Amino acid sequence: MKSEGAWVCLVFYLICPANIIGLWWAVGSPLVMDPNIICRKSRKLGGKQHEMCRNEPEIVEEVANGAKMAISECQHQFRHRRWNCTTANRSIQRVLKHDTREAAFVHSLTSAGVLYAVTQACSLGLLLQCMCDNSVMDRSTDGKWEWAGCNEDVRFGSRKAAEFLDIPPTQRNDVQGRILLHNNKAGRASVAKYQQKICKCHGLSGSCELKTCVLKMPSFRDVGDRLKERFDGAYKVSIANDGRNIIPIEDHDAARRPSGENLVYLDESPSFCKPSRKQGSLGTLDRLCNPDTSTTDSCDIMCCGRGYRSYKVVVQENCRCQFKWCCKVICQTCSRTLSIHRCN
Ligand SMILES: *[C@@H]1O[C@H](CO)[C@@H](O)[C@H](O)[C@H]1NC(C)=O
Ligand SMILES: *[C@@H]1O[C@H](CO)[C@@H](O)[C@H](O)[C@H]1NC(C)=O
Repeated sequence: MKSEGAWVCLVFYLICPANIIGLWWAVGSPLVMDPNIICRKSRKLGGKQHEMCRNEPEIVEEVANGAKMAISECQHQFRHRRWNCTTANRSIQRVLKHDTREAAFVHSLTSAGVLYAVTQACSLGLLLQCMCDNSVMDRSTDGKWEWAGCNEDVRFGSRKAAEFLDIPPTQRNDVQGRILLHNNKAGRASVAKYQQKICKCHGLSGSCELKTCVLKMPSFRDVGDRLKERFDGAYKVSIANDGRNIIPIEDHDAARRPSGENLVYLDESPSFCKPSRKQGSLGTLDRLCNPDTSTTDSCDIMCCGRGYRSYKVVVQENCRCQFKWCCKVICQTCSRTLSIHRCN
């Protein structure tokens, strides 16, 4: 039985079935998003996840929240792409069985989301294990201002995200394991390295006699935007002869090695043009497209050369709104005609 193989593999570090990562995503995946199910399934896998399920269920709850954030951000970032990060027909789970750039993006975003959700819970005081980090103090030269308030402490969240999502490479040559770890780490860096210092002035009429600053995480939208850029510039890699290092192949010149923040992948992506169960593709039939662009949502690209059909729809909207004293807003209803284009 497959799951037994995985269990043996993780617990005793024996030689693993090649599809261990894919298998893990199918049974112990936070993408399942229900802590009860994650935990029931992770029992089969044992290891760190199972330990966290038993000892820190409130953190597993945040892991699930982080995964939810990641999926909704993925759907936003990919809304104009052929594969739009849909959860229908287990599409995501199937896409994650291959080491493509899409998988790299989802893994990194999930790891960022988990860090984010745990850190937010810490700052809100929802978890006993962690709180605001007050250790960062900074005084300007004239001694006027200092850190105060709640610095969001990403270290705890980062550790928990790694504990839950990083499967240790079970063999030196387990390329898939190395890729997963690399992309997870890149995801965490996309939050942790971009904390911002937010300052507030105090004192008579804004004299800024006293300035207090706290460290905040970027918005999760910023995190998604940054990882989407990394997705666009992802490196195709293979594993070096030493079995440890990831090295870029072909397209990239050797001088440009992927840094810790770059996403890396092994397999070319499918076109996602036609439905394919195995690849997690639902095809692009009936998808909306734009005839006037040259980006990924253009009808040329989205419809894979099959053409599209156009029609008009009339939408009703509020318009010419007026504010009436006091306190009503009165609007008229206007009709607007929209052109809609869908792939054949
Ligand atoms: C999803 O799966 C169902 C049943 O397996 C199938 O009928 C349906 O066409 C699939 N949807 C898409 C968009 O591929
Ligand atoms: C995502 O893609 C699927 C299948 O291609 C489609 O059914 C769905 O409407 C798309 N979702 C959005 C928000 O475009």
